[in-house]
Amino acid sequence: MNINGKKAIVFGGTSGIGLSATQMLSEKGAHVIAISRNPEKLTQLPKNVTTKKINVLDRDAVEKFFQDEGEFDILVNAATGGKRAVGPFLSMDLDGYKASFDKLWGYTNVVRLGTKFLKDNGNIVLVSGTPARKCRPGQIAISSVGGAVEAFARGIAPEILPKRINIVSPGIIDTPMSPLEGTAREEYYKKATSDNLIPRAGTPDEVAKGIIFAIENEFITGTTIDVDGGCIIS
Ligand SMILES: NC(=O)c1ccc[n+]([C@@H]2O[C@H](COP(=O)([O-])OP(=O)(O)OC[C@H]3O[C@@H](n4cnc5c(N)ncnc54)[C@H](OP(=O)(O)O)[C@@H]3O)[C@@H](O)[C@H]2O)c1
Repeated sequence: MNINGKKAIVFGGTSGIGLSATQMLSEKGAHVIAISRNPEKLTQLPKNVTTKKINVLDRDAVEKFFQDEGEFDILVNAATGGKRAVGPFLSMDLDGYKASFDKLWGYTNVVRLGTKFLKDNGNIVLVSGTPARKCRPGQIAISSVGGAVEAFARGIAPEILPKRINIVSPGIIDTPMSPLEGTAREEYYKKATSDNLIPRAGTPDEVAKGIIFAIENEFITGTTIDVDGGCIIS
């Protein structure tokens, strides 16, 4: 797909991986709508980018948005959705475990309500994460959600043909999702990635390049592209 001149919608497009995807799509000539709950935090908008304030969990708002926008070409969802629970499953707060699935419900809302407005040669990219297929201690909640997201994309790929849907699965990426600062942040990323084949945190741009690849390559659907420094096999 030639991105130039296309209309792209990026949920979670105002921070981290989604923001990098928004910037790259805009550099390639797309008209982008970047969506999040607090888009006003994005003070400098790249060329051809507008923002919209929507919570992906608000089904009525998502439905109205797509109806108002009409046809479009590219749908990316990198919105984290809600809170993430960490820790061992047997002692985990079950409401926290359940809340982690808000990411899945956000993804299913936008795919369900957006696909009918996606052009036939259009495509969707969702963002999962390495824990989907490699669960480290304490990651059972995000692992379960990531696995569900990947199964969802594989399962729905035949149903939406000729439209395509793919997953990009990041490893540990240095984004505003982590609240740590300074040395604590450096130490966290160093420790968390020390066993990886490429022992460092990835950048949002490195993941966004995977998203762009999935958008441009018209011979892939229902697949997962790992951008993880070799984490999954280390
Ligand atoms: N960073 C990593 O190490 C890593 C690793 C594996 C997978 N991932 C996945 O990659 C994706 C992007 O993560 P990131 O690190 O780039 O996070 P981030 O920098 O925190 O960005 C998340 C984006 O999602 C938006 N968002 C969150 N909840 C939303 C909601 N309910 N409705 C609408 N927008 C919402 C946020 O904006 P508002 O707060 O304004 O709503 C923000 O724009 C996520 O799915 C995450 O699970 C990240």
